[in-house]
Amino acid sequence: MKNLISLVTGGTSGVGKSVALALAAQGSQVIVAGRDLIKTNAVCEHITRATKNKSVFPMIADLSSRADIDTLVSNMYAQFPCLDILVNNAGSVFFQRRQSVDGIEMTFALNHLNYFLLGNFLIELLCKSPSPKILNVSSSAHKRSYIDFSDLQLKHNYRAWRAYGRSKLANLLFTYQMDRNLRGSKIAVNAVHPGLVATNFLASNNKSLIARFLNLFMRVGISSEESASKIMNILMSSEFQETRGKYFVNGMIEKSAPQSYSEKDAKQLWMLSNKLAGTDFPVRG
Ligand SMILES: NC(=O)c1ccc[n+]([C@@H]2O[C@H](COP(=O)([O-])OP(=O)(O)OC[C@H]3O[C@@H](n4cnc5c(N)ncnc54)[C@H](OP(=O)(O)O)[C@@H]3O)[C@@H](O)[C@H]2O)c1
Repeated sequence: MKNLISLVTGGTSGVGKSVALALAAQGSQVIVAGRDLIKTNAVCEHITRATKNKSVFPMIADLSSRADIDTLVSNMYAQFPCLDILVNNAGSVFFQRRQSVDGIEMTFALNHLNYFLLGNFLIELLCKSPSPKILNVSSSAHKRSYIDFSDLQLKHNYRAWRAYGRSKLANLLFTYQMDRNLRGSKIAVNAVHPGLVATNFLASNNKSLIARFLNLFMRVGISSEESASKIMNILMSSEFQETRGKYFVNGMIEKSAPQSYSEKDAKQLWMLSNKLAGTDFPVRG
């Protein structure tokens, strides 16, 4: 992995931090995307100390913001000759309905549009790598979900878990559509459920006491290191080098829920994502 360049979003805690550390331990240059300068710098220093890898770089962006994503993308093109691995991992659940700075429902903006924009904007940089990979961190929470295209912003009857499950279903619809778009290219796009992982997931964007209390239940999950080791296997094992357009659970390829394979929904989501993000990324059949 000595010459690889990897970008991990949400690399400042939980699953993303452990994946960034594991990539650095294997010798990859790692860009840790974080939203807070002090925390992101501290995480990069920690990873460098722990792995002796000096090529661990912070990049600051609130990934629910289109302007910050644009800046991150420009910096990636300006500072790196190529990108071998993109791990789209930053994500959250919001107990109260919030809007991003661009006026988009926050869960959708952070958990889906962020993946959609980074995946598409970074294609040319990824294409400069001999064997580029995008791994989208989804969740088994997609299974109980559906996308109501008539209320994509969840303006009516907002429920945190409805918004979250829908965004994780969107991750899969996006992964499979991106794979269809990229047929014939070198880029392999896959998705993963990282497991139930003991992280700060419920509390990182919800500061109430109840959020912190509920987060205690996440301690029953596996460690983020264990989750990261399965993710590393997906990225590195020779067994999966040709794998594309798949969903991984517990290190193995699994079928995702039937609704995630709807090409009609995937295209509709793609077009609405373009509309909301103000982009024009082409969609192929
Ligand atoms: N934990 C689980 O059991 C579980 C299960 C299924 C799927 N997942 C998925 O796994 C991924 C990682 O979750 P996790 O459990 O590791 O949670 P986590 O510890 O809360 O990590 C989430 C990461 O996203 C970052 N983030 C949050 N809002 C952001 C924003 N607006 N802009 C930029 N970065 C932002 C966080 O930054 P800060 O460090 O600044 O908070 C953190 O680095 C998510 O996509 C989640 O949906 C987790």
